[in-house]
Amino acid sequence: MSPVVLDLVRLSTSRLAAAGVPSPEHDAWALLEHASGLRRAQLVAQPDERAGELAWVDEFEAYVDRRAAREPLQHITGLAYFRHLTLAVGPGVFVPRPETEVVAGAAIEAASAALAGSGRAPVVVDLGTGSAAIALAVAGEVPAATVLAVEADPAAHAWALRNCAGSSVQLRLGDMADAFAELDGTVDVVVSNPPYIPVGAHIRDAEVAAHDPAAALWSGVDGLDAFRVVESAAARLLRAGGVLVVEHADVQGRSAPDVLLDAGRWRDVEDHRDLAGRDRYVTAVRADPPAA
Ligand SMILES: C[S@@+](CC[C@H](N)C(=O)[O-])C[C@H]1O[C@@H](n2cnc3c(N)ncnc32)[C@H](O)[C@@H]1O
Repeated sequence: MSPVVLDLVRLSTSRLAAAGVPSPEHDAWALLEHASGLRRAQLVAQPDERAGELAWVDEFEAYVDRRAAREPLQHITGLAYFRHLTLAVGPGVFVPRPETEVVAGAAIEAASAALAGSGRAPVVVDLGTGSAAIALAVAGEVPAATVLAVEADPAAHAWALRNCAGSSVQLRLGDMADAFAELDGTVDVVVSNPPYIPVGAHIRDAEVAAHDPAAALWSGVDGLDAFRVVESAAARLLRAGGVLVVEHADVQGRSAPDVLLDAGRWRDVEDHRDLAGRDRYVTAVRADPPAA
């Protein structure tokens, strides 16, 4: 075991903990790996040098300063992990969250069921794609699917473009309200993680308040303005029997499904929890339009 490396981890962990970073030891190791270009096991096995002799120590300390100032870990490393993906992220794009992995999972299940049921390539649309995390997860895990994604914010769209390079995802810059009108009534699955924080609400985490783009966070007085836009875009895009999957805040386990129930064009409206047991997303099936 390298005592120098262990000392660096111990000192930076207490520095990050004092700054209120929620997972200080994890972040200290991640920054150490990023600065050194070595994996944790290699770092621990380093020969016993003095810290000053390790070429990457200054860089590591600069990263710890940034993290202690509550810059997101993913902005410092430039990377976010989501299901099987490693995504490029940074200023201007929402950092994909672990709780959204189950939302993507529900869209993947719905796309797989559509494929098994019809034998033809399912069409999946991701509304407000950000880094393209959900769209790329679906494209990677249901390779037969045709996946389309839309993002309104040019800065976020630029990150999505970078992440989608070489993938089959069809990405568009625009407003989800009227996106992909050429597909109206034909889509099998619509998935979205829209902004859902009520305007004026207090954001506890400094990383979110100062670094996630405003367009990814705020959504009217009840936090459901964007959800209503998703509801109406999905009702337009989905075929009868098509599936909608939408993430919401943990306090919206009743109000978000109510938007769908009140719209009167959905059946099998069901709310679901994330892996931490918190209300997290709603699914529904596009009802048959009434007979003419
Ligand atoms: C909470 S972020 C989620 C990003 C990504 N889907 C994820 O889960 O990591 C919401 C995204 O929706 C985008 N957005 C908000 N309103 C939109 C609209 N009307 N049309 C298209 N995108 C929109 C925001 O710019 C932001 O990138």
